[in-house]
Amino acid sequence: MQRVALAVIIHKGKLIVEHLREEIRPSFRGVPAVLPGGKVLDGELPEVALKREVKSDIGMDIEIVSCIAERAHPLIPESRISYFFCSVNTVNLTIGNKKKVKSAEWEDLPTAAVHMLTLFSRVFAFLVQQLYGNVLPPNVNVPELMWLSQDFERFGAKIREGELVAFPTETVYGLGAHAFDSFAVEKIFRAKNRPADNPLIVHVSSVEQLHEVAQTVPKLATSLFMHFSPGPLTVLLPKNDNLPSVVTAHSSLVGVRIPANLFALELLAAARVPIAAPSANKSGKPSATHHAHVINAFGSEVPHVVLGGPTTFGIESTVVLPKNEEQIVIMRQGAITKEELKTTFPTHEVLIAGEDDTNLRSSPGTKYKHYAPNGKLTVLPLNSKKKWRAHLLKVINENPHESVCILCSKEFATLIPKKVNRIILGSERDLSSIAASIFGALLECDAKRYSLVFAQSFPRKGLGRTIMERLTRAAAN
Ligand code: TXA
Ligand code: MG
Repeated sequence: MQRVALAVIIHKGKLIVEHLREEIRPSFRGVPAVLPGGKVLDGELPEVALKREVKSDIGMDIEIVSCIAERAHPLIPESRISYFFCSVNTVNLTIGNKKKVKSAEWEDLPTAAVHMLTLFSRVFAFLVQQLYGNVLPPNVNVPELMWLSQDFERFGAKIREGELVAFPTETVYGLGAHAFDSFAVEKIFRAKNRPADNPLIVHVSSVEQLHEVAQTVPKLATSLFMHFSPGPLTVLLPKNDNLPSVVTAHSSLVGVRIPANLFALELLAAARVPIAAPSANKSGKPSATHHAHVINAFGSEVPHVVLGGPTTFGIESTVVLPKNEEQIVIMRQGAITKEELKTTFPTHEVLIAGEDDTNLRSSPGTKYKHYAPNGKLTVLPLNSKKKWRAHLLKVINENPHESVCILCSKEFATLIPKKVNRIILGSERDLSSIAASIFGALLECDAKRYSLVFAQSFPRKGLGRTIMERLTRAAAN
């Protein structure tokens, strides 16, 4: 029996396929294998087949580089692996200068051949999705393919062993650790450079699992979970004594939520323990809404990343405190709005801490500088289109030597002079599209080194209020 290992990396749109046992490659000839589309392949190298398939399907030429490990190394630029694909049985490999990369391995050649083809077609599906968005045939479900191809048991074991695993949720990516392992939790604080007085949210997979971390679940808290879970709502509950106090930054309350994301729930199921996880970004920087953001921010510091593509909401969960049975206090604004809470609980008082009632203290995390891009961000005043354009032209003219970018809705983008850079966040008619792209846009501003960024304002109601909270904090000095 011969062992085969294969790593696939996509960098800047190029597919880099790396055979770690190059000498076995000729053995693939003559091994009949079935392409996922049902086509039987006989005597053709998988990468040749892939190239041909890609060309005939969408007329795109792709470059596939095959080489042995040592030679692959120069192809992997410093901490710039933009995408990394691995299959069912994954192993960690050290390439070149101890760079950790993942690869897949199989026990025998016929299985390997079939798996390689499946793997290639998945990588291909993902690559096309990334580069061309909507050209994928409607029956190809990329998230499902990505979900099928990852080894959650292995990720779950890493959590139990006290290692950090980054994973997608429906809001933003989380940087997870075993909630009952204080050493593991401390690793999160170190990796993020997070102040020790900022508590972490604990993620569980079911209402039953809440009792592992919470001493009691009050009636109102149970109703909140029944209405909004799984989903982007974090509820503060009295903490169980055996949950390490480092998780809650010594608070007697623990924030708990059940994420509505297949990948996150799969990881929780495999880990079999609650997972403490803040957003997977360095403290103060925009939250990660795509696995590429996590890889860019942490590189080899966080080698285990569940690849889940873009997140749905793109903005964090709402943190609430069911204060007594009549009052819901919003401790941090988020994807679930005050209006939604009020509609669901019409007889309850719903208050935003620090805004509706300045005596109520909001979550510790809200006092820190957050989400800031490297360039200077200014939120433009809410205005009519005519006044907005005039204001914009004025600030652009005042800064002739800066590299300027405007973040705005597609409705306002038409008002911007052609030569000025802009990132369209979404449509004003669908504020969730704006919310979903804010963090990605701020990170793009860093990548493109814009020194001056101007963001459009949105009316402070519903999701617009959360969007404005994030933008104003990102703009704070
Ligand atoms: O959507 C989310 O909530 C994401 C995903 C990964 O679940 N997580 C997230 O975590 O945004 P983080 O650490 O970036 O923000 C958590 C916020 C902070 O403002 C923190 O102060 C607050 O929740 N928080 C957590 N536990 C708390 C507690 N026991 N009391 C008061 N505030 C708490
Ligand atoms: Mg955060």
